[in-house]
Amino acid sequence: MASIVLYCRPGFEKECGAEIQEKAAWNEVYGYLELKKNEGLVFFHLNNAEEGDTLINKMPLRRLIFARQWFLTLTDKIDLPDYNRVEAITEALGTEWQYADLRMETADTNDGKALSKFCRKLAVPLRQALRKSGLLTEKGDNDGAILHALFLSGSEVILGYSISSNTSPHVMGIPRLKFPNAAPSRSTLKLDEAFLYFIPKEEWDERLTSGMNAVDLGAAPGGWTYQLVRRGMMVTSIDNGAMAESLMETGQVKHRMMDGFKYIPSKQNNYWLVCDMIEKPQRVAKLMAEWLLRGYCKEAMFNLKLPMKGRYQQVNDDLQTIKDIFSEFGVKYEMYAKHLYYDREEVTVHARILSPLPALD
Ligand SMILES: C[S@@+](CC[C@H](N)C(=O)[O-])C[C@H]1O[C@@H](n2cnc3c(N)ncnc32)[C@H](O)[C@@H]1O
Repeated sequence: MASIVLYCRPGFEKECGAEIQEKAAWNEVYGYLELKKNEGLVFFHLNNAEEGDTLINKMPLRRLIFARQWFLTLTDKIDLPDYNRVEAITEALGTEWQYADLRMETADTNDGKALSKFCRKLAVPLRQALRKSGLLTEKGDNDGAILHALFLSGSEVILGYSISSNTSPHVMGIPRLKFPNAAPSRSTLKLDEAFLYFIPKEEWDERLTSGMNAVDLGAAPGGWTYQLVRRGMMVTSIDNGAMAESLMETGQVKHRMMDGFKYIPSKQNNYWLVCDMIEKPQRVAKLMAEWLLRGYCKEAMFNLKLPMKGRYQQVNDDLQTIKDIFSEFGVKYEMYAKHLYYDREEVTVHARILSPLPALD
């Protein structure tokens, strides 16, 4: 049986499953779900095995909100012997295909974490054996298929592949970011990850660079403002709460104690709007659309808080609100949403308008 395996945040399997089922159906690919509850794994078993390859090539992983990473299975679950595990894996792969890289993966759970040392140890001889038998290309080859080995335990593995141009560059889709000691809150990692995920590095010089002006709505105590300041931007931080002294001392931050829904920038010179207000997502969605349409900012990065129930439906409704507003004004836009690793009960959205702005009063 061929299946698409998706990795998501533990507890979000239902959302991840509903999404792959719906979006695969748009591509006329059908199957049924097997969810590993609280293990962050979703199995989408395909009715027609041949369609798997088309799907992981054609459907952009970027369009899936709740999946961090995915692969198409090459094998069912393999029971590994106590010895000669490397041989067992190499044999199961056959000789037909060659892979550009190997990802040793587990579920994002405590059991999974306990397995990661085992995976690291096994990776060395496994890579060597795969190279020797020509199954893995030489180091530095970035094109082609990525081989995934998902370890369910020390003696059970599922093998599969993803396409390097349509996969996460990170093991299990998780970037490991270092918390900067000078940042005033852990939320800082959310914006750090968002920039890394949504803005290609080769465009940072143009889109994410020093000298830009930015507005941070719901800024206190300043974890997001910190990310803008450290990139050399001048930031207007809006929040009734206090901002960290260390940020105010940089001279790059203006703090306005007021409601983020009432603030209107006096000049059209802001490149970035970032928004982490804990507010109704529908309200935030409308506000973001308005800022972009009015040209108050060129690009927006914001969170949409998730409800307790119906989370997938709610996010779709929130994004639809923005799409409807943009359509009403006939603008072209780019918008992606992702449940990032450092997100919890929210998803992060990036949006920008790509065509001339409409005349508004
Ligand atoms: C999750 S915290 C923001 C954390 C911040 N991004 C950081 O990294 O330190 C949410 C903030 O939104 C602010 N907030 C909520 N509603 C707001 C509103 N209507 N206007 C301005 N700030 C608001 C709260 O005061 C709170 O400080």
